[in-house]
Amino acid sequence: MKEETTLIIMKPDAVLRNLLGEIVSRFERKGLKIVGMKMVKLEDTLLENHYSHLKDKPFFESLKNYMQSSPVIVMALSGVNAISATRLIVGPTKGYEADAGSIRGDLSISGQTNIVHASDSPETAKEELERFFSKDELFNYDRLDLDFIYGEDERE
Ligand code: TYD
Repeated sequence: MKEETTLIIMKPDAVLRNLLGEIVSRFERKGLKIVGMKMVKLEDTLLENHYSHLKDKPFFESLKNYMQSSPVIVMALSGVNAISATRLIVGPTKGYEADAGSIRGDLSISGQTNIVHASDSPETAKEELERFFSKDELFNYDRLDLDFIYGEDERE
């Protein structure tokens, strides 16, 4: 079992539809620990770096407009297997294909305005955390309910 940290972005539709509390609550209840959180505006360079794998896609311009339509919340979440566990909670890219129970499945019916971003691998998580957070913006502490979140043999 491996402690990991992953990067979440609560996108403009989450902010503008007042869904922030709902989303944070789902991650908290799962047992993930918030180790960083702030509101930012996604300036051109930051956004273009973040979505560099999509820069030649026909939807890139509309994606950019959407991502810059309000400030966003970036959040760092830690926990055992946090990267894959978080992707499961978020669901696949298109809201209309995502299973009910996932954030996108419950809250989005769009292939673009899909509420949250979550890192999809250890490599992208590392890269994205460094992109959005400086070292002194990430914190270390223990949740008080740790004994109930993990089995004895799962704790470090
Ligand atoms: P991608 O990195 O493929 O998916 P994910 O967010 O699940 O990791 O795509 C990034 C974002 O680009 C996606 O969340 C929404 C947007 N997007 C579109 O607007 N249209 C599309 O056809 C696709 C595939 C993605």
